[in-house]
Amino acid sequence: MSGPARPALPQPRGPVSDAVIHALRRRPHAFRSPWVEDLDLLTSDDAQLALACCYELHYVSFQGVDDDWEWSPDLLALRRRLERAFVRRLVEEVGVPASIKDADVLPSLNEITTRDGGVSLSRYMVEDGTVDQFREFCVHRSEYQRKEADPHTWMIPRLRGRAKAAAVTIQYDEYGEGQADAMHAELFGVTMRTLGLDSTYGAYRDVLPAATLATGNLVTMFGLHRRWRAACVGHLALFEMTSVGPMTRYSEALARFGVEAPGRHFYDVHVEADAWHEQIAQSELVAGFLEHEPGNGGTLLFGAHALMEVERRLSEYLLDAWSNGRSSLLAPLAHRSAA
Ligand SMILES: [Fe+2]
Ligand SMILES: [Fe+2]
Repeated sequence: MSGPARPALPQPRGPVSDAVIHALRRRPHAFRSPWVEDLDLLTSDDAQLALACCYELHYVSFQGVDDDWEWSPDLLALRRRLERAFVRRLVEEVGVPASIKDADVLPSLNEITTRDGGVSLSRYMVEDGTVDQFREFCVHRSEYQRKEADPHTWMIPRLRGRAKAAAVTIQYDEYGEGQADAMHAELFGVTMRTLGLDSTYGAYRDVLPAATLATGNLVTMFGLHRRWRAACVGHLALFEMTSVGPMTRYSEALARFGVEAPGRHFYDVHVEADAWHEQIAQSELVAGFLEHEPGNGGTLLFGAHALMEVERRLSEYLLDAWSNGRSSLLAPLAHRSAA
């Protein structure tokens, strides 16, 4: 159990997360998983937290938790049921992976990027957002951004040829081109600290709602499962293809709040890097993947549509809370300071 600092186990939010967290406090043992099939995985805080805890065992894990839990058959069985319930809800929202000609996949991906996705968090932030709302936004994003690139890395051994080379090229950039302090996850830590936030890995999980946990759980599910490798390709491709505009606006919002260049660097780096990543994602990652695995375009697009769905839900959740004068976090941030 030695190694890097691990976050504390979160507080349970219901019977499912309670069963998982309670079990993780003890040595690996047989346990009976609770019923999860009635839960809505797109809105249930309890179920999304339970899934996040199962997945966290593959990343940094938690203080005092035995590493052998990672491959506990009972825990994996529960995780599987949660994943099935999650996929079921995603399919209800975006449809089953449809069959599509390989030649139509890239045009369809591009069509998703031009579709009006409803609310735009970045436009709100640059025009009307406050620095305290930006702090909350960073807390939500920290769930993914403090382990940025890690979930997509899992797909690399499952890719071949041009797609593998493209994924490694993109990931090399995400990991700072070999410079530890230039890793995008570290740059996000700088932004968090500039805004007076705690950049410790996993520091805010207790205040993240299901809508946020779903964004991280979705990409981890796609990354961990070989059967979702095409969806993971679609997720990463759309991620890169929809980055430059929002990243530009987030940097502009921070400038409006008086945040100096080092605090905005995370966003500015993405404006530059993702203009290139979106090209590689299309011409090499997606095209190379379909060249090697023709006929998988439907699942690839499912990954892209699922990403848009969870992102839309998160944006709506945040903007709804703020328009009603509430914090978007399960508990408001105690600390407020000038940027
Ligand atoms: Fe990045
Ligand atoms: Fe990127």
